[in-house]
Amino acid sequence: MSSHSLPIKNLFFNSLVFVALLQANTGLGQSLGDGLYTESQASRGAEEYAARCASCHSTDLRGNSNSPSLIGLSFMFIWEGRSLGELFTKMSTEMPTDQPGSLSQQSYAAILAFILQSNEFPAGDNELASSPDTLASIQIASE
Ligand code: HEC
Repeated sequence: MSSHSLPIKNLFFNSLVFVALLQANTGLGQSLGDGLYTESQASRGAEEYAARCASCHSTDLRGNSNSPSLIGLSFMFIWEGRSLGELFTKMSTEMPTDQPGSLSQQSYAAILAFILQSNEFPAGDNELASSPDTLASIQIASE
């Protein structure tokens, strides 16, 4: 009897360890649900976006046949599971396509804050960092 229940206990114990590891892992980085940018940073970003990005990605961020959407399901489909640092690097080294890297790091961070706000992630008390290294530990997740 006991020789049969032992493997089941092990299985149960293993899944507890697994859940604990998952929780420890998400505890390491900050989460987008914590509010990682400020309202004022996002409104600065909105102005920069209008001036430097909207011509291609459109004013409502939905893009068009040439430029991808920066909001909603299609955006999350591409970016979910990747890091905020990766998204920051993509923007700050490749955008705008006609003048890559031509904005300041602060401006790219503000635009990223605006993109997060447009994707309905909450604002908070601290500004989003303008360094890809700091942003590398933050995962893009929709929940
Ligand atoms: C001249 C047109 C143009 C402008 C201006 C422009 N983009 Fe883009 N952007 C594109 C095109 C085309 C792509 C798709 C090709 C690629 O990923 O490099 C793209 C891709 C992106 C992506 C990746 C989207 C994805 O899901 O793969 C992001 C993020 C982005 N742009 C942000 C910006 C930001 C922020 C600005 C303003 C600083 C900007 N873009 C300005 C044309 C533009």
